[in-house]
Amino acid sequence: MTAQRKDGRLEANAASVVFHSGFGGRNSKTALKNASLAIGGDKPGIVAVVGESGSGKTTLTHLLLGFRSPTAGSVSYRGIDVAHMNADQRRIFRREVQAVFQDPFEAFNPFYKIDHALFTPLSVFGITRDAAEARAKIEKALETVGLRPGETLGKYPHQLSGGQRQRIMIARALLLDPHIILADEPVSMVDASLRSTILQTLLRLKDEAGISLVYVTHDLTTAYQVADRVVVLYAGSIVESGDTQSVIVTPRHPYTRALIDAIPSPDPDVPWNLEDVDTEERGTGFPATGCAFAPRCPHATAECTKAEPPLAALDDGRLVRCIRPLVRA
Ligand SMILES: Nc1ncnc2c1ncn2[C@@H]1O[C@H](COP(=O)(O)OP(=O)(O)OP(=O)(O)O)[C@@H](O)[C@H]1O
Ligand SMILES: [Mg+2]
Repeated sequence: MTAQRKDGRLEANAASVVFHSGFGGRNSKTALKNASLAIGGDKPGIVAVVGESGSGKTTLTHLLLGFRSPTAGSVSYRGIDVAHMNADQRRIFRREVQAVFQDPFEAFNPFYKIDHALFTPLSVFGITRDAAEARAKIEKALETVGLRPGETLGKYPHQLSGGQRQRIMIARALLLDPHIILADEPVSMVDASLRSTILQTLLRLKDEAGISLVYVTHDLTTAYQVADRVVVLYAGSIVESGDTQSVIVTPRHPYTRALIDAIPSPDPDVPWNLEDVDTEERGTGFPATGCAFAPRCPHATAECTKAEPPLAALDDGRLVRCIRPLVRA
C-alpha cells in the first residue's frame, strides 16, 4: 500500500440533529445533541462510538458523512464546512471519507456482479486509466481484506457469504484511497472468528495505510480491541469520551459503568448484570430537564434532575457529563 500521508481531518462541531414527524412535523426528536468529535489529521486513530440502540450512533455517522445536515452546529472536513463546499471540495470529501455499513447486502445491486460495485467508484472518480489498471487495483484491495480475487470477482452478491460481502465493502472503500472510513456496526452480522479477522483488517488499515476510522458499535469488547479513543453516547448526548484504556478500565460515568457491567462474563457463575441497561424497561420519555440518564442511574439525586450536566474535563483529560463522576477504583 502506498505510504501516502493521510491527513484529512473530519470534525463535528457542537452538532445536533432533530427529526420532525407527525402532522406538520409536530413531534420532534433530538437524535443527537451538541456533539463534537474529531478524527484524522496528523496521526491516524480509531475512535469507537458506543451506546445502546437508539443512542444516536448512526445519526452521528450520517452527519459525518454529509448524508444529513446538522440542525445546529456544523461538520467540517479539512477545515471546510461540509454544508458549504464547492464542487471540487465536495469531490475530495466524497473520495477521502468513505463508509462501511452494517448490512452490505443493501449496498449491492443484486442484478450486477460484484465487479460492477468495484469498478464503478474507480471510473466515477477517474482514479485508474484503463481496465487493466482498475483490475490490478481491485485485486490488491480484495487481497488487503483477505479475499481471493479469483473466488470473488465474477460472482453475484447472493453467491457470497455475509462476511465476504462485508469485506468487499471495505475493499470498495479502500479503492478510493480514503483518509477516513466510517464503519457503522461493520462486524455485527458476522460470526466471532470472522469478526476478529475483520477487526484485524481495520487495525492494519490504520497501522499500514494510515487510515483513520470511526468504528460504531454497541459492543464494548471489540471497541476495546481496536480503538484508541472511545466516545459513549446516551440518548443523543456524549456522556463520556477519552482514551480507550481509561474509559473502559476506569469508567467515570455511571452509564459507561452500566455498559461495562452488561458485558457477559466468561465465568458462568457470574450472572449478566443487565439491570441498568434494559432498554425495554426504560420507556421512551427522557426527562425534559436534568441528566437524561438520571432515571436509570443508581447514584442519581434530586440535584441531577435540575439541569443537564455539562461535558466536563476531568484531571486525566477525559470528558464526562456527570455532576458526580464515579470515583476511580
Ligand atoms: N429518519 C428518522 N426520523 C425520525 N427519527 C429518527 C430517524 N432516524 C433516527 N431516528 C431516531 O433517532 C434516534 C437515534 O437513532 P440512531 O439510528 O442514530 O440510533 P443508533 O444508536 O444507531 O441505534 P442502533 O444501535 O439501533 O443502530 C432514535 O430514537 C431513532 O428512533
Ligand atoms: Mg445504528
